[in-house]
Amino acid sequence: MTTNFSVNKQLSSTSFPIGVATSAFQIEGGRDSREASIWDTFCTKPGAVKDGSNGFVACDHIEYWQDDIELVASLGFDAYRFSVSWPRIIRADGSINQQGVLFYTHLLTLLKQKGLKAYVTLYHWDLPQYLEDQGGWLNRDTARAFADYVDVVSRAFNGLVDCYATLNEPFCSAYLGYEAGVHAPGKTGKQYGKKAAHHLLLAHGLAMQVLRKNAPDVTSGIVLNFTPYYAASEQQKDCAATQLAHDHHNDWYVRPVLTGKYPELLSLLPEDEQPDIYEGDLALISTPIDYLGVNYYTRSFVQHDDNEGFTILPPEHGAPVSAMGWEIFPNALRDLLLQLHRDYDLPPVQITENGMACDDVLINGEVDDPIRVQYLQDHMNAVAQAMESGVNVTAYFVWSLLDNFEWAEGYLKRFGIVYVDYSSQRRVPKRSAQALKHWLTRRQSV
Ligand code: FCB
Repeated sequence: MTTNFSVNKQLSSTSFPIGVATSAFQIEGGRDSREASIWDTFCTKPGAVKDGSNGFVACDHIEYWQDDIELVASLGFDAYRFSVSWPRIIRADGSINQQGVLFYTHLLTLLKQKGLKAYVTLYHWDLPQYLEDQGGWLNRDTARAFADYVDVVSRAFNGLVDCYATLNEPFCSAYLGYEAGVHAPGKTGKQYGKKAAHHLLLAHGLAMQVLRKNAPDVTSGIVLNFTPYYAASEQQKDCAATQLAHDHHNDWYVRPVLTGKYPELLSLLPEDEQPDIYEGDLALISTPIDYLGVNYYTRSFVQHDDNEGFTILPPEHGAPVSAMGWEIFPNALRDLLLQLHRDYDLPPVQITENGMACDDVLINGEVDDPIRVQYLQDHMNAVAQAMESGVNVTAYFVWSLLDNFEWAEGYLKRFGIVYVDYSSQRRVPKRSAQALKHWLTRRQSV
């Protein structure tokens, strides 16, 4: 197997952290030692998860965590991004699950011993079900409950964390979970999406204040996902539709965080779709962050639609796509970073997720995934180009360390650089992991 991997010099210095990412529900398992989350409930809904699977065992990381951290270190990464499971920390009666806290403090201690930087995401979609029973993200009190949970963990993890992310991709929690209904908790209706989004952003703001108090020296911010939208034609209608899609899906999140204002679109929403904004909310939401986390996978084309205003098109015929059906288009990552840089007074940016699903197969103990190697290399080089043009990017993370529970796709889609045989829990580094290792271990400090 060849393991050539060539990345522009900006990302090839040991002073630029390259990491690998996971999230709690997708890998941990260990369902018996925590409260239920909305994803446990969602997985029981017929048809909600394509293969009818759940997160009861997943990659059994709750058992194999030491081996998994060992793997991250042995592959030559500088940093590990993972998420903390809220339902593993706070019980339904409000008490603290000390075993849960210990799991993460042990993991963080091991990361330190291995010289790996710890990037901790505080919410990656696994809301405790007991909070959903009270309305979940449609209930303003959930934002307060999040801040209380963040208070508990940020005290317990004192001195062990390098970087906190309050939320991962609030767009997915709000829109996919409460409006489109394709993610937990599976609610549908336009009257829900923006309301849930506002409470999520409020939770972010409240959590930032807690982190400032409990962890003033830790780099703290938020992770947002971006889909750069391109107009399907040069017609004015399609261009306007593209801007509308951007305002709903991308700008709705980044603008209030960075400027304290929602996009103009807010005033155009019908009354029942408006979020419940209280005085002071936007000041909280725009609490200064130390960095913006950017997750990027793909771009999309957008067309005008008479009913909805816009419609998102599937990739053009013949375009290269991943096993998710997402177009592979690295230049959109460069252009996204440049656009954010133009539109905003940006804090440093971290690429907190980037990667692809392939139809990986284990043959004679090996997994050959040259398309993923190419994808990662091309996207890192796109980041390097943006840096050359002045964007301050300070870290890059591959999604994901392991094949894992890919939400509504179950275990059907493999995003890992390490293959997981779910029947034995054997981990097999794919060619992409080997290529990264080869490159990472040969970097120089500059
Ligand atoms: C992102 C999620 C992550 C993973 C990737 C493929 O939206 O943050 O958990 O599912 O997509």
